[in-house]
Amino acid sequence: MEPVTPKPLPPPLPAFRSPLHEPRTAVVLGRLLGAALLLCFLTGLISHALQDPPAWLTPHLPSRPVNGYRVTQGLHVISGLAAVPLLGAKLWTVYPRLFEWPPVRGAVHALERLGILVLVAAMLLELFTGLLNTLQWYPWPFPFRQTHFWLGWLATGGLLIHVAAKGTLIARHWRRPAAGLPQRRAFLTAVAAAVGAVTVTTAGQTVPFLSGLDVLAPRRPDIGPQGLPVNRTAAQAGTVTVPDGWQLHVVGPRPYRLSLAELARLPQYEVELPIACVEGWSASARWTGVRIADLLERAGAPGGSGLRITSLEADGPYRVTQMPAEYAADPLTLLALKVNGEVLTADHGFPARIIAPNRPGVLQTKWVARLEVV
Ligand code: HEM
Repeated sequence: MEPVTPKPLPPPLPAFRSPLHEPRTAVVLGRLLGAALLLCFLTGLISHALQDPPAWLTPHLPSRPVNGYRVTQGLHVISGLAAVPLLGAKLWTVYPRLFEWPPVRGAVHALERLGILVLVAAMLLELFTGLLNTLQWYPWPFPFRQTHFWLGWLATGGLLIHVAAKGTLIARHWRRPAAGLPQRRAFLTAVAAAVGAVTVTTAGQTVPFLSGLDVLAPRRPDIGPQGLPVNRTAAQAGTVTVPDGWQLHVVGPRPYRLSLAELARLPQYEVELPIACVEGWSASARWTGVRIADLLERAGAPGGSGLRITSLEADGPYRVTQMPAEYAADPLTLLALKVNGEVLTADHGFPARIIAPNRPGVLQTKWVARLEVV
């Protein structure tokens, strides 16, 4: 008798019984998740360009539309938060595929799986770091901004590879099938409800007509001293000390200094502009102060000059900031001395702060000490 070689047994893999672990559900959720990721990626690039532009882009940054950053960063955080339940639902739908056997069927399949690993890891970390950033909580040793930026590229690259690899399957399940699965309808309705609930209870931090429903976002745009939230108080900035007899120091071809009383005697302008924060909240206020363009002209700055702004803060990444020429020349850009009709409090930047249109909140420098023509 011939000896019988026993066939190797497959590993004891879990059984997945839900009919929803199938490609049509993966495609419906994938479309929404992909759209949220792309919107997040594009608005994230805009935020990055406005905060930390490469030298070639700086002169082209526009100070209009006035509410540009408020809208793009609001959309960034809204789509990022909506992606959290979408990602959970998508991963639940497809996770049995991660147990397929054999785990690798050749070089191309190995590459596809590597792409999936990068995509899922980058998405999870991206959403986790973004979510904690809205709470201004950074419990990790790496810099948030650079890490979040590069994870965005990894996730978007991983998404493109994933969609290309699944292209045929996606195309086959793109259209609604003639006979719908009742469980799928119920599942997708629950996911839509979760996305709706997350959006409606957080978007009010930047969308005015939803502000009454803003119960889960860390900020209410109408709560704070002088009717405006404060992201970084004077104490958090290292107890900023405004010297007695503070003077604004303007450095240019004709340098000069002005006391607060002298600044208040210059022509004052009132503008309605938002503070729009990278964390996703924004709030409009009425600012009164001196036009930056007038201060630059008085210093003999040539047309098209930009500005270096130094704060009284002892340190911090935004103690010294740059303002491109178009912002400096904009008639809405002020060195503000008042907000909503009152002299600025210490937490809003007393004695003077920058307010400019279409600019991230971190660059609306508080406690201004010095302006330099560049
Ligand atoms: C951030 C976005 C996404 C993540 C994190 C993600 C994640 C995953 C994972 C982990 C798998 C299982 C791995 C595998 O099948 O080898 C998968 C499968 C799949 N994904 Fe995505 N995906 C995303 C976006 C998309 C998009 C935009 C679409 C289509 C519009 C899509 C359609 C599919 C399809 C058709 C499958 C196969 C499902 C099956 O065979 O049952 N995914 N996805």
